[in-house]
This record gives sequence, structure tokens and C-alpha cells, in this order.
Amino acid sequence: IPVKAFDLVLFGATGDLAQRKIWPGLFHRFVAGQFDEHSRILGVSRSDLDQAAFRKKVAKSIEDPKADKDLIEKFLEHVDYISIDATGERGWDALAQAVRPDTVRAFYLSVAPRFFGPIARRLEKFGIATPDSRIVVEKPFGHDLESAKTLNEELRACFQEHQIYRIDHYLGKETVQNLMALRFANSLFEPLWNSSQIDHVQITVAESLSVEGRGEYYDQSGAMRDMVQNHLMQLLCLTAMEPPSKFTPNAVRNEKLKVIEALEPVPPSDIARGQYRAFGEQGSYRDHSGNPDSTTESFIAMKVEVANWRWAGTPFYLRTGKCLRQRLSEIAVFFRNPPHMIFPGAETPQGNVLVIRLQPDEGMTLHTTIKDPGPGGMRLTEASLDMTFADSLKGSEQPQDAYERLIMDVIRGDQTLFMRGDEVESAWAWADPIIAGWTERKTKPQQYDVGSAGPEDALLLMHKDGRRWRSIG
Ligand code: BG6
Repeated sequence: IPVKAFDLVLFGATGDLAQRKIWPGLFHRFVAGQFDEHSRILGVSRSDLDQAAFRKKVAKSIEDPKADKDLIEKFLEHVDYISIDATGERGWDALAQAVRPDTVRAFYLSVAPRFFGPIARRLEKFGIATPDSRIVVEKPFGHDLESAKTLNEELRACFQEHQIYRIDHYLGKETVQNLMALRFANSLFEPLWNSSQIDHVQITVAESLSVEGRGEYYDQSGAMRDMVQNHLMQLLCLTAMEPPSKFTPNAVRNEKLKVIEALEPVPPSDIARGQYRAFGEQGSYRDHSGNPDSTTESFIAMKVEVANWRWAGTPFYLRTGKCLRQRLSEIAVFFRNPPHMIFPGAETPQGNVLVIRLQPDEGMTLHTTIKDPGPGGMRLTEASLDMTFADSLKGSEQPQDAYERLIMDVIRGDQTLFMRGDEVESAWAWADPIIAGWTERKTKPQQYDVGSAGPEDALLLMHKDGRRWRSIG
């Protein structure tokens, strides 16, 4: 569905994220006909570039051998550039003149968080922000509760909460949204979605890439701040939340907030931290971070309890890390075993597991137990009901990249897939004491091999509960 004409002002227009995700995403939406020549994108950065040089850079980032050259040219006609000093006065008047009245205005801040406040203040001071404008900010949204509160205050001094779009790109992933459809558009699963029927849930976001190239940022952050406080937390919320009464931004976000508020503090014994060591040609985490004494974790696994009526007694195990065996993200819901087994030799059957695969190979699988076909008596075996989204999408449009979808939601004014300020603060309030505990106790992460499933401690974490992680490939 086409969106209304807009002026999108992209701060950090020559940065890494803009080049990898935002420009290609906008181009794909243009090709799909979601916006047309009435909309414009104003790239902003500090660099002193002329229009032609800037468009050349944009063309390079959307370079796609399959893309029609004419379409790229057409897209670029709607792209302009303004050089601005984000913390000074230069360029702001030009921006004020460039934006059009009666057009949706969205300001996308693809810049470091320290610029959020200065940019927001100037948008207000130069009369560029209107009551209908939207402001979009990227993670990291602070590095602890206090800094997140400061960022919220800075943004709210110039914009109202309904104008602020905090991106967590995991919420833009097709399968993540499908999780809501699965739970709330089917009657099959919801009656089973509680601790009487579910033994435990495993949420895994495994990456095979190292932190090479981003070591300086990552070393200040680690897996807990980089992935758990935001992406894994959002996956946990969507899995555990109560059904919202309607599908509106605040109804959905109220329910997610309640999940975060119900999280128990996590004791050190329920956490495994790891750091990858050198292997063959591949350098170690410490090589990549440039910090030979680093105690930052590149892997974390933890057991999380959601203390409410629905989930008491059903742990959620979270796990994420770099340089693991394979890139694989999934939510696996383990149902309890049947209360009594009547088949001889099947006293401990493989229970039902619903696996929601986020990437790669997006889809869902429900593992079931059936009779082993053929003669040989009543022997049981495992069979799965499998749905790979790529198959069911054949012929229709392929899923959009998360950023494409989220940017169009900003233009539509739909905040459902964006984090509200109180959600982010609550997630930090839960994460801060965990991180503070490591610092106080000077805990060191355990080393693990590149290409493995993480450190030994992660296996033990499950083992002591009599459970096992699903394999990472
Ligand atoms: C980012 C993290 O937010 O998400 C990265 O900063 C991580 O460290 C990335 O690699 C993972 O995103 P995706 O979409 O590739 O799973």
C-alpha cells in the first residue's frame, strides 16, 4: 500500500548503517511502488559533498546487479544532500528551507547517541520539527538505565512520545511479526501457551561473524548490552506477553512492558559468559577488540524467569554469541511430555517442540511423535510438520528487509514495532544489576573455540536443569 508523500531527512547519510541497510531499503520500497516522485530523501552529514558526489555514493550503496539502471537514476532524482554541523549552526537554515510544508516529515538519526539531543534541539530551534514530525533513533539507546533516561529526556524535551520511533530491527523481521500472528490469530496454540503445558523455551541468536571492524564499540558493550538488553528481550516479550486487547501500538507495548517488569533478577549461577579464542587464521576476541586484557563477553547464555501466573515454573533460556558454528536465530518452545506413556519402550519420548526460525531459512517446524511407518509393530519415531516461508511465498513478493518495513511504518505513523521509552528503561533496569555484578566480582568470561556452540559453562547451565540446548547446526 503506497504511503503519503514524505520528506525523510537522514542524518548520518554516509555512515555504515545507511549504506548497508537504509539506502538499499528505501530503493527497494521505491521499486515496489510504495512511494513515488512526490517523496524526497534529504541526506545529511558533516562531509562537504556536492549533490553529484553524494548521489554517486548512494548509487554505490544500492548497487544491485539485478536493479534496473533507469530505476536507480529515477530514485536518485529524489535524493538531495545538505551538509550540516550537528552540534553547531552550519546548514540548519538550508534544511529548514528544504523541507516542504504539508508533507510528512521524518528525521532519521543514524548517528551516535551523543548527537540525539543536539540534533533534536536544533530541529526544534530552527522550526524544522512540526507537531506531526517523527524522529527515529537507532540503538544503542544508552548503555545503562541512567544514560537511557538522559536520552529519553533529551528527545522528549523537543518531541512527544508518539513522535519518537526507537528502532530495534528485530521487530521488523518477518518471522518475529509472524510470532504475533501465530499466537493471536490461531486458537490452536494459545490454550497451550503457559507453564502447565510448556516445559521451557530456548531463544537463540547465534552469529558466525566475529566483531572484527567494530571491536572498539563492541568492547564497551559486550553481548549483554549489544544483543540481550534489546533484541533477545524483544523476542522474549513477544513470546511471553499476554494477548493485547487490540493490535494498537500502546496495547501491544503495554503487554511487552509487563513481561519485562515481571523478570526476576538473574543470579550469577544462571549465567554463562564466553569470549572466543584464536583459531587458525582467525584472531581472538582480544585481537579484534584491540584490548589484550578485555573481559567483555562475546557470548552469553542465561536462564530467565518470568514471575507471573502464566510463566512461573517455565524458564526461558537465552543464548547469543559471535563466532559460533553457524548463523542461526530461533525460538524453540518445548512442550511437556505426555503425562503417561502407553507404548512400551517409549518411556521418555521426544516431546513436542515448536521451532520458530528467524534466520536463515525463515519458517516454523512442529516436532511430533508418530508411529514408525510400516511393519514392525508399534514403534515410535519423530516427524515434523514443516513450513518454510520461502515456499509459501513463491510467486508473491519476497519478505522485506526489517529496515524497509520499519521505515515505511514511520511514514505511516505506526509505532507498534518500535520500543517505547519505558520499555527501554525497564530493560536496562533489569540488565544493569547483572552487568554490575560482573564488574564487582571481576568475573572473567570463559574462552570458547571459534566455530563451536559456545563455552562449556553454557552446556552446564542446561545440564544442571536436566535439559539440553538445541544444536546450532
Ligand atoms: C546488531 C548488533 O544490533 O544486530 C550486531 O549490534 C549484530 O552485533 C546484529 O551482529 C545482528 O543483526 P542480524 O539482523 O544480522 O541478526
